[in-house]
Amino acid sequence: MNKALVTAMVLIAVIFLAGQAMAAADWRKGKKLHRDVCMQCHKSRGAADRLQLNARTKAQWSEFFQSGPTSAHQPVWQKLSTEQLGDLEFYFQKYAKDDKQLLGCG
Ligand code: HEC
Repeated sequence: MNKALVTAMVLIAVIFLAGQAMAAADWRKGKKLHRDVCMQCHKSRGAADRLQLNARTKAQWSEFFQSGPTSAHQPVWQKLSTEQLGDLEFYFQKYAKDDKQLLGCG
């Protein structure tokens, strides 16, 4: 095999894998779920306070989503798939306390 062909194949593999990784969790879907699902309660004068995404670090949001629902959230979580919870986690992490600092605009 010549070098150019190998390089092309590696490039295709990298592009394919990067695409897969991005498809795994989609913050845009998470954003929509936050608006459509979470904000049914988490809104001004709602059943719960508005959520402050930057009140927690990425690690704290991971813990929140990985540790299962609190009793108030049991019926909410039941309607969400593992994939949807992953999208939510990804979106919340995007606006977490420490993510903004990494971008230099916190
Ligand atoms: C049925 C109403 C309801 C829905 C829908 C709901 N929550 Fe809540 N949530 C509550 C209540 C009530 C509390 C306060 C009591 C508690 O902590 O369990 C709360 C508390 C929280 C807290 C802790 C308080 C804080 O501000 O840090 C977080 C985080 C949270 N919710 C995230 C979510 C997320 C994410 C979703 C969407 C996937 C969601 N909630 C959807 C009712 C709801």
